[in-house]
Amino acid sequence: MKKKFMSVLLAGAMLFSLAAGCAKKADSKKIGVAMPTKDLQRWNQDGDNMKKKLEAAGFTVDLQYASNDIPTQQNQIENMINGGCKVLVIASIDGDSLGTVLATAKEKNIPVIAYDRLIMNTDAVAYYATFDNYKVGTIQGEYIRDQLKLDSTDGPYNIEVFTGDPGDNNARFFYNGAVDVLKPYIEAGKLHVVSGKYDFETAATASWSTENAQTRMEAIISGNYSDGTKLDAVLCSNDSTALGVTNALEAAGWTAENMPIITGQDCDIANVKNMLAGKQSMSVFKDTRTLADQVVEMVKALMEGKTAPTNDNKTYDNGVKVVPSYLCTPVFADANNYKDILITSGYYKESDLA
Ligand code: BGC
Repeated sequence: MKKKFMSVLLAGAMLFSLAAGCAKKADSKKIGVAMPTKDLQRWNQDGDNMKKKLEAAGFTVDLQYASNDIPTQQNQIENMINGGCKVLVIASIDGDSLGTVLATAKEKNIPVIAYDRLIMNTDAVAYYATFDNYKVGTIQGEYIRDQLKLDSTDGPYNIEVFTGDPGDNNARFFYNGAVDVLKPYIEAGKLHVVSGKYDFETAATASWSTENAQTRMEAIISGNYSDGTKLDAVLCSNDSTALGVTNALEAAGWTAENMPIITGQDCDIANVKNMLAGKQSMSVFKDTRTLADQVVEMVKALMEGKTAPTNDNKTYDNGVKVVPSYLCTPVFADANNYKDILITSGYYKESDLA
């Protein structure tokens, strides 16, 4: 009896140490992934992709969304640090608000990868993976230039400008990329910003919110276009702002027949549907699967003490250092090429867009 009791005890102890060993092993491969919000389709896709791909590579994942609330994101990152994460992958809400919490990460030798949005004014960031953000803006500006035939017609054409959240370092890149293309035409009088408001600060949209963009567009319409003044184009830095602009225009009586050219970014399902219905002209497609692949490579390299592949080591200065970056390539999608870009590539099913 005593012998039996002893052997049960021994087996129990063995099981326990095996389990503890497993837990230790799992913990030693834990990666924290901090995403800004579930409100926008893209971040859900980013989070899902990251989790799937990291798990497939043998890591465990602590994935958190912060409802676009800065203190929530700070707490989540603190918990990841205290919870034993070995690498942090962070898409920040506000690039400037993570310095303190990331100083703790640095003390504990936990490397940080800035995901899609650069984290500013800290030396704790090891790598940055994103899309070529300036190019996103260039693509939008060139689309408007080409659709309005600014090089071969006299115009003048009327345009309004909406960009993103000033706390997101990307917003300026998108804005500059587009405005660098369009400014010569504005200065030559071929393109006219009727509201007069197109400097970055006034064109910004807090939290990238659809509602904020809609409210600003409603005010622009009533102040400048309610007398029938023609609106030819609205430069929108992304799909959530484009949606707000489209809602305001529709509410004021615009239809697919007379919609201005409207740009976007992300190819969110609601916006692709609008594109197919003639209510948005284009959206810049950023394949979040490619971005996730790249970040997984960075995580692997950091976990193995190796150097990760980067392709840009000059553009992204966060105020403290130039962060070694990998820039993925954005492309534009519109009603003509969406099948190749979005369906054939397996990003969406045709039924998603019905
Ligand atoms: C991302 C865009 C996104 C925007 C709003 C930016 O940092 O690069 O893809 O539309 O944030 O979430």
